[in-house]
Amino acid sequence: MTGTDYVIEMSGITKQFGEFKANDNINLKLKKGEIHALLGENGAGKSTLMNILSGLLEPTSGEIKINGEAVKISSPSVANKLGIGMVHQHFMLVKKFTVTENIILGSEPNRLGFLDKLAAKKMINELSGKYGLSVDPTAVVEDISVGMEQRVEIIKTLYRGADILIFDEPTAVLTPQEIDELIDIMRELVKEGKSIILITHKLDEIKQVADRCTVIRRGQSIDTVDVKKTSQQELADMMVGRSVSFKTKKIKAAPQEVVLEIKDLVVKESRGLEAVKGLSLDVRAGEVVGIAGIDGNGQSELIQAITGLTKVESGSITLEGKAVQNLPPRKITETGLGHIPEDRHKYGLILPMSLEENIALQTYYQKPLSNHGFLNHRAINQYATKLIEEFDVRTPNEFVPASALSGGNQQKAIIARELERNPSLLIAAQPTRGLDVGAIEYIHKRLIEQRDKKKAVLLMSFELDEILNVSDRIAVMYEGNIVAIVDPETTTREELGLLMAGSSLEKAQAALAAENNERSVGEENHFES
Ligand SMILES: Nc1ncnc2c1ncn2[C@@H]1O[C@H](COP(=O)(O)OP(=O)(O)O)[C@@H](O)[C@H]1O
Ligand SMILES: [Mg+2]
Repeated sequence: MTGTDYVIEMSGITKQFGEFKANDNINLKLKKGEIHALLGENGAGKSTLMNILSGLLEPTSGEIKINGEAVKISSPSVANKLGIGMVHQHFMLVKKFTVTENIILGSEPNRLGFLDKLAAKKMINELSGKYGLSVDPTAVVEDISVGMEQRVEIIKTLYRGADILIFDEPTAVLTPQEIDELIDIMRELVKEGKSIILITHKLDEIKQVADRCTVIRRGQSIDTVDVKKTSQQELADMMVGRSVSFKTKKIKAAPQEVVLEIKDLVVKESRGLEAVKGLSLDVRAGEVVGIAGIDGNGQSELIQAITGLTKVESGSITLEGKAVQNLPPRKITETGLGHIPEDRHKYGLILPMSLEENIALQTYYQKPLSNHGFLNHRAINQYATKLIEEFDVRTPNEFVPASALSGGNQQKAIIARELERNPSLLIAAQPTRGLDVGAIEYIHKRLIEQRDKKKAVLLMSFELDEILNVSDRIAVMYEGNIVAIVDPETTTREELGLLMAGSSLEKAQAALAAENNERSVGEENHFES
């Protein structure tokens, strides 16, 4: 026995990338058998710290002890030998190999290949059964679901004898049902004596599974707390460094003239089926209209049609009194559209290009950024640096490729670019997906600010809290049409849920009225603890 309660003690860990300190004197102690959350905003330095623990990065300074003994984790294989295994944010499996081949890949063979494989199969089956990690050992990785890929990664670390498992934002890629399964798996793992570090910025997950939580902010240790004794609000405030509000403050909307008018719109999806089926909707200056719906009910096609990214079969789209259906995207943009796209990597940014170029992407060909067809590099630089400052885009400088920024900062860069042009209609599609609470709050404020500047805002989101929080009117989309328009002030999550599942407004209200007699009130906001 070593006489310590801790399986891991990281003390005073600093990691510099050039001048920049991604980790600045961080402490983290992991108890045996606990689930320890590592909480921090995007870019706080969580992955860096865990890459140090798993031997992928060498710290600039600091000390690591395992079971009370100082160690030097100079490579991932050293980490393996010390019983540390990491399930990365982006899986590292070989796509063309089978599940079994991936699991045994890189483990040291101690028998002839043939026998080794048999033993491996047996062990994989054992691990899979013991922890509820269902995988298909013979499937090729490129054919399996993301959830199964993750389970393969977990088995792979266990196969190599890991006692300490690090999960880097494991739920970001999972469906709600897969998240529940993963949570069960983590519980099973600690029951068997494993210890877990769970990186996340989702507060409800921390409350659900973690015993303790270490919060880091901008590379520095803030505190380690007992999760049971700490509210979500306290966790959020520690993470962001100020008091965060989950509910965006806003005054009542004063809608004015119609800015976007959609009439009898029909749009087909990629396979040629109708995805939007004769939809009509108005969005006025000075209001946020939220589009609620379950993924796949035509929301994406609707937005692609408005923004010119897909063809309109029939019907009309009028922006500021001009028919814009089937115009090229740039023409629609110039008519007065700002677009925060659903897929920021595909449509929002050109990842290998610099942040500066990305910020100028919509306006570089106009004065003052260009003159007679020549780019004015000085003007572009001034424009970009001004927006980076104003929109608090956290970046080493304006020349790094957009790919180097965290998700939240990429999103801020897109918002900066789109809002600066002062469009009369702003379309925000899933604007906060994958972002942490601080960034979400910021983006919601900006959307409402646009509304208060008498712009029209169309918000599409799968997050009911976001829809209820930000919208002035909610249009519920179901099977390619708008089935109800409701007032967020008087509509509950339950009602919205039923509408989104295809129930009529009357039916939804009747069903809930019947249930309401038995239910207590006050569960509306799931953020509150
Ligand atoms: N290899 C690297 N070179 C330079 N900067 C890096 C490198 N890796 C991470 N960073 C920077 O360090 C900071 C912390 O990154 P990371 O640990 O990935 O944050 P988190 O996982 O908390 O989102 C970010 O600002 C990121 O841009
Ligand atoms: Mg990370």
